[in-house]
Amino acid sequence: MQTLYKNIRIVDDTQDFTGCVLVEDGIITQVAETIDEPAFEILGAYGLYNSNLIVRDFTGEDVVLMPAFTDLHAHFRDPGFTYKEDLQTGCEAAIQGGYTAVNLMPNTNPVCSSLKQAREIEKRAKEICGITVNQTLSMTKDLEGTNIEHLKSLKKNEILFVTDDGKGVQDDAVMRQIFEICKEKNITVLSHAEDSKYSATDMRKAENEMTARDIRLFEEVCYGGTTATERGHLHFCHVSTEEAIEMIAEAQAKGLNITCEVTPHHIFATGDEANHYRVNPPLRMQEDLDALIKAMQAGNVFAIATDHAPHSLEDKEKGAPGMIGLELAFPLCYTKLVRGGFLTLSQLVKLMSTNPSAMMKLNKGKIVEGMNAEFVIAELQQEYVIDVFSMATKSRNTPFNGISVFGKVLEVI
Ligand code: NCD
Ligand code: ZN
Ligand code: ZN
Ligand code: ZN
Repeated sequence: MQTLYKNIRIVDDTQDFTGCVLVEDGIITQVAETIDEPAFEILGAYGLYNSNLIVRDFTGEDVVLMPAFTDLHAHFRDPGFTYKEDLQTGCEAAIQGGYTAVNLMPNTNPVCSSLKQAREIEKRAKEICGITVNQTLSMTKDLEGTNIEHLKSLKKNEILFVTDDGKGVQDDAVMRQIFEICKEKNITVLSHAEDSKYSATDMRKAENEMTARDIRLFEEVCYGGTTATERGHLHFCHVSTEEAIEMIAEAQAKGLNITCEVTPHHIFATGDEANHYRVNPPLRMQEDLDALIKAMQAGNVFAIATDHAPHSLEDKEKGAPGMIGLELAFPLCYTKLVRGGFLTLSQLVKLMSTNPSAMMKLNKGKIVEGMNAEFVIAELQQEYVIDVFSMATKSRNTPFNGISVFGKVLEVI
């Protein structure tokens, strides 16, 4: 089966032009300004046509075709908190938002601390929906902060990521061992950088101190003294302060294999004690927001990740931090970053698809021959109002309901 997408604006990290894409059995086979309809065959009295070809001509439609997005950071709450979200509604929310791949955090109940549980979740997701679901393992058993026995039995390259997202690993000696094991087994450490000593009093200090600590330990363990070529990989989740992003940029300039993600909400909104929506890390100040955007322009931010954190109304009232993100990420980022004049659409695609897809080792994220035909088709010109009640996610926790945005996902392929 072949599909020809004709006369549509095609955008990925290195291209932005109006042209055509030919797809055969789910793989991109040709990308060009013009493509002739291929492989005509003679079919009886009906004359010349290709029975195996679907042609979609977008002439006159003001839409754009991009590689579908990949989210490095989402919470689907399955198992354990499925009243907030489950694999089915989470996947539906992802698709509605333009995503065909998601990386799930392990703070479920039970916590995902075993390969067996991770594989079961991935298998169940596969039965439910057509998108790629990777389930991350916790780095300490049950997120309790010290026991890392479950990491020792993993084989090299068996899993992509570990994280204790939701809290940081407070003990330096434990963190050091995690870096050692992960370097050996080629696992990327996803750090939720929060020093809990300061969580109650100074959330800025909590993030900054732990970011500095992680960079220091990572450098000591992975770069100290040896001539090994394997260096490990440290990735910071939801970076939100000017100080943290500067430390990360400095570490990168030194050549350390450190990357980070920023969320849509941390570049879209500020918050202060009088006016905030509870999320970890908190919404910050204008200076922080500016610094994050500057870092995106400079190439110090590797990906935009949603930190999609669904909670029920009741849990929010009790103080649960977090907000939904999958169905908001593209419009928020497109409106703020591209319409705001900070990034090109190509740069946004790189952050939302090309880079995170590469980090998840997926054959997607670019519109080039040989890659999977995982696309998102979006409309960019029409302003519209965000309606949280039309979303596929089970939860409604967002401060962005009712705001006007640009960038609407029309279709995911
Ligand atoms: C996340 C959650 O609800 O699981 N909450 C949040 O505020 N971001 C945990 C996390 O990402 O740290
Ligand atoms: Zn976190
Ligand atoms: Zn308050
Ligand atoms: Zn999270």
